[in-house]
Amino acid sequence: MAFSAAFLDELKFRNELPDVISQYVNLRRTGSNMVGLCPFHSEKTPSFVVFPTTSTFKCFGCGAGGDVVGFVMQIENLDYPAAIEFLARRCGIPLEEDGFSKESKVSRKRVLELNREAAKFFHNYLMSPGGETALQYLKNRQIKDTTIKHFGLGASPAGWSALTEHLTSLGYKSEELTAAFLAGSKSGRTYDYFRNRVIFPIIDLNGNVVAFGGRAMGDEKPKYINTSDTPAFKKSKNLFALNFAKNYASESLIMCEGYMDVIALHQAGFTNAVATLGTAVTSEHARIIARFTKNVLLAYDSDSAGKRATDKAIEALTELGINVRVIELGDAKDPDDFIKKQGAGAFGLKLKGSSGRIDYAIGEILKKYNLSLPDDLQSATDELINYIAALGDKPSREIYSQRAAELLGLSADGIAKVAEQKAKKFVRRAKKEFDDSEIRKKAGYGDKVNPGRLKFADISTIEERILGILLIRVDLGIEALKQLGEDDFFTEFSKKLFRFMKPFLEEGKEVNISANGFFTPEEQGVIAGYMASRLKLEKNDFEVLEADIKLLKEKKTDLELEEKVNEDYENLGEYLEHLKRKHKDKKQ
Ligand code: UTP
Ligand code: MN
Repeated sequence: MAFSAAFLDELKFRNELPDVISQYVNLRRTGSNMVGLCPFHSEKTPSFVVFPTTSTFKCFGCGAGGDVVGFVMQIENLDYPAAIEFLARRCGIPLEEDGFSKESKVSRKRVLELNREAAKFFHNYLMSPGGETALQYLKNRQIKDTTIKHFGLGASPAGWSALTEHLTSLGYKSEELTAAFLAGSKSGRTYDYFRNRVIFPIIDLNGNVVAFGGRAMGDEKPKYINTSDTPAFKKSKNLFALNFAKNYASESLIMCEGYMDVIALHQAGFTNAVATLGTAVTSEHARIIARFTKNVLLAYDSDSAGKRATDKAIEALTELGINVRVIELGDAKDPDDFIKKQGAGAFGLKLKGSSGRIDYAIGEILKKYNLSLPDDLQSATDELINYIAALGDKPSREIYSQRAAELLGLSADGIAKVAEQKAKKFVRRAKKEFDDSEIRKKAGYGDKVNPGRLKFADISTIEERILGILLIRVDLGIEALKQLGEDDFFTEFSKKLFRFMKPFLEEGKEVNISANGFFTPEEQGVIAGYMASRLKLEKNDFEVLEADIKLLKEKKTDLELEEKVNEDYENLGEYLEHLKRKHKDKKQ
């Protein structure tokens, strides 16, 4: 039975892997991932890892792996259609012969269509005579026409039903409008949710309009309203402008609080800025960020809410091994205000002068005390020592003990000693976790799935790297396809996987590794392994990918000519010619 891609997307969206697995396995967080005892083989130390970033799991002991469908197939011992049925029942979406249901629940696909229409409507309205006030509002806030276009900004009319009428005339039903959060309904009447506001569309990594934010143009409350969670959108999982920023993220991302901050930053050339959507940074946000960069600069509002948000963000991000630096804006209220007052150049300098998270935290602690008072000095010292003791490594503790001592005017040795005693407990615990992770062995049955791997270890490693990066960075797919085809792969399994991935890459869509039961659970395990190794790496961007593609092509030509020589010694001439040419190219 073939299920439609839209149905399968919906199914995965509603059955989150960590939730499903947690029903069978006790999972514990480690960094961006979760680990537990593998349910597929017997073990005492956990080697079963769940990767929320890619919604895959992998056991580094027995090699099992896959996505949520693969997990259910293996744990419930079901075939593919039965596993789909199991998951559909679990999240309450009805199965239909031909894919997606026509019953009451509104599909993700339908909501995305609606959003696209609504975004067009809002943008056109902004550009029409009716949108003049909104346009003037944006102009007053120094937003340029090109920026308006770039972000697809819009405006909603002041009346109660302009959008509802427009969408209804296109054939959408009122329950679809309410499911998409574009309309509300009261006593049987459907009315527009966004009225008389400037509209900010929120676009996901695949270019879908998933939600909207709407700002009042005066002092009305609330200042912003936002789409709540819908079948196509989860606030805790989306970042405003990441669709643009991801292309500039390999160095770092700038995180700020507001839509307007992001827009002002992009307009000023800081195209790596994103914002959460009126919420604190969640661990889900952090995991998404970790896919794109290892460095985050926090530029939150200077008020106390901004400071609290900074602390939360530091916690969520550092937990995933992301380096965090903090930008303090001084007198300016937020980045938008800063750029207006001091300009892009000054903001650039702020980025350079940002403090590391530890210096920032120490500074924040000291701000609370008046060190010339003995009591305050005592409390500040205690608080700093506690903070330093919790730092994960000895060199940091030493460095920051020194720093704290200077700031407090006390002896560094004394501080370091107390901090070290307090740290012992943490260190012992951390060491145990490390030992646990050391047992992660290489997958057992990778070679059965791709026999070519044994014979051609070099080239299959390159292939795996390429496939791995494309599996986690689907947004690179379209560009990659310009340079890469099935014929570039050498081993059979890599060719087969690439052929399977291609239609997804062409659409820039997440590769659904369980789709239509094409791969066996063992094969899925191997594929999940490719993703897992990629996730461990520092850099997963186009540059790295391109270099590997080049390497693969070279290696493949080498190997094919070598094979020819093995078949018939007569072919040696051609091989030598090739080597000569290669040598010459290298010299140039
Ligand atoms: P701010 O109040 O700092 O707004 O809220 P801002 O982005 O600086 O907006 P301007 O410059 O005054 O126009 C920061 C973010 O918090 C969310 C929005 O995402 C906003 O961008 N927020 C704020 C809401 O969701 N609802 C609100 O009522 C206020
Ligand atoms: Mn603000």
